[in-house]
Amino acid sequence: MLAKKIEKILNDQIEKEGYSSNLYLAMASWADTEGFAGIAQWLFAQAEEELMHMMKFVHFINERGGHAIVPAFEQPPAKFDGIKKLFDQVLKHEQYISSSINDIVALALKENDFATHNWIQWFVTEQVEEEASVQSIIDKLKMLGDKNMYMFDRDIMTLRGSEK
Ligand code: FEO
Repeated sequence: MLAKKIEKILNDQIEKEGYSSNLYLAMASWADTEGFAGIAQWLFAQAEEELMHMMKFVHFINERGGHAIVPAFEQPPAKFDGIKKLFDQVLKHEQYISSSINDIVALALKENDFATHNWIQWFVTEQVEEEASVQSIIDKLKMLGDKNMYMFDRDIMTLRGSEK
């Protein structure tokens, strides 16, 4: 049985993961309309991963005797200020998600909920990977500058393939 505090923090995370999915979907759609097919593909895949993260929380809460609540989601932005800034925004968002995952780890320990503590470790590892993957994209974008976007757009999917 889940303690109420744990159920609440896990339910709050449903909203954060779902918003992440919508945010990356909005970014993907924007990149698609700007002609960046490769970047769009990377972001569409990221949106799907976030949806899967959200589902993991829904199932875990219910499995543990809680009630997963599907929240309203804030509308993400529709337009973005260039590719470099977009990925800076992705990194900042992932850092925010990492800190909310850390809050869950800390609360699970405080409440002696070792099952939740154990389960959430998957997300701890996932966040390290996600931040590193976005950081490596930003590093490459810095090297390229604003030119060569065509090449970057073509190469980004191979980049994902080598990291995942
Ligand atoms: Fe599910 Fe990218 O955090």
